[in-house]
Amino acid sequence: MTHLIAPSILSADFANLQAACEMLNNSNADWYHIDVMDGVFVPNLTLGMPIIKAIKKHSQKPFDVHLMIVAPEKFIAAFADAGANLLTVHYEACTHLHRTIQQIKAAGMKAGVALNPHTNINVLEDIIQDIDLVLIMSVNPGFGGQSFIENTYHKVKSLKELIIRKKSTALIEIDGGVTTDNARKLIDCGADVLVAGSFIFKSENPKNIIHQLKSV
Ligand code: DX5
Ligand code: ZN
Repeated sequence: MTHLIAPSILSADFANLQAACEMLNNSNADWYHIDVMDGVFVPNLTLGMPIIKAIKKHSQKPFDVHLMIVAPEKFIAAFADAGANLLTVHYEACTHLHRTIQQIKAAGMKAGVALNPHTNINVLEDIIQDIDLVLIMSVNPGFGGQSFIENTYHKVKSLKELIIRKKSTALIEIDGGVTTDNARKLIDCGADVLVAGSFIFKSENPKNIIHQLKSV
């Protein structure tokens, strides 16, 4: 499988999300990456269900929703209803991760687990066969536009080994500081999905940057 590109709309112009949707629909983007923050799990607030519902009407690609919130299990049905296709929760935010994953699947979505930069991939040993995706944070979650953490390469390789050893089908997604400078190396280490926010939306030609990330 060739790698997938999931532009993060966090860096798009929030006053003109319809234009961002049209650009993404006409680009090589595979998914929409949507960052939901609650000001508690991370020191920032972003968007919630009403915005997701509103942009769903203008989008033609799957919604990859990244929840950076405490107690995400409270909102599983609401995000399914808003249009999420893949719902990713943070390992660090879930006391009963296994149950939460089952609830996400029962609601008709694919289920992902995100790891903060300090969290070792070994914590996934007993859940990796149950999940569709692992999101490795390559910056500390909360903001777009931060610098990529180099230890990520090592984590991706270890995670790939775990996935192979456990015969899991989980995809590996990288989120934070992704550019054309690190994309190829991430894919070579085992990454399947690359999220990019500021590198795409702060550029002169976002569509062309998406094409470049898809072509590395
Ligand atoms: C950060 C978010 C990311 C963010 C990535 O907490 O999870 O998805 O939008 O932005 P860049 O690509 O600018 O690092
Ligand atoms: Zn994200």
